[in-house]
Amino acid sequence: MFKKLVIASHNKGKVKEIGELLAPLGLEVISAAEANVDEPEETGLTFAENAILKARNTAEKTGLPALADDSGLAIPALDGAPGIYSARWAGADKNFDSAFSRIKQELADKNIKNATGTAAYFVCALCLILPDGGEQIFEGRIDGILTFPPKGEHGFGYDPVFIPQGYDITFAEMDSTKKHSMSHRARAFEKFLQYLKDNK
Ligand code: IMP
Repeated sequence: MFKKLVIASHNKGKVKEIGELLAPLGLEVISAAEANVDEPEETGLTFAENAILKARNTAEKTGLPALADDSGLAIPALDGAPGIYSARWAGADKNFDSAFSRIKQELADKNIKNATGTAAYFVCALCLILPDGGEQIFEGRIDGILTFPPKGEHGFGYDPVFIPQGYDITFAEMDSTKKHSMSHRARAFEKFLQYLKDNK
């Protein structure tokens, strides 16, 4: 279908994971940073809307097919927060300790004193924009619980405070192969890879 794809992200953790998930395809993959494309402001109100904004911006500026991932952690007890604001809760300096403190504080404000065990899920929306303007969305989700204090050194973002359902270790305690066997991003990618197979 195409041989080169731009990943519409400057997030190194995400670009690394996407490169690993796309490795079997033998595609040439470059990041928006390598293509000198700035990230647009994320003004969408859903993961899918933000993925579309990012992928369209990159496809228009490079003339190449672009794939964007918008993802985050949702906590039903906080009405879905941080959700699409997951990156913003860590601030400009990407300090996830302050995002973790904010989660605990906001749960405490709702009388949930022990944040450990609170239900949470990760969501990933992928958007593919083709050079003819065609748009495809693929979504994935994984449910689990929060745990504090944070544990593990792998992964990125909220991985150290998230235990997927059926496990007793966090995403950050798993090696990347294990995380990729179940994550929200891997589930969205399964759908993306199926689409590529069906539209060769
Ligand atoms: P985005 O670049 O606006 O989509 O930001 C997504 C944010 O959600 C990231 O900066 C992380 O904080 C968080 N996030 C998304 N996916 C993951 C994941 O797989 N593990 C941990 N945190 C994630």
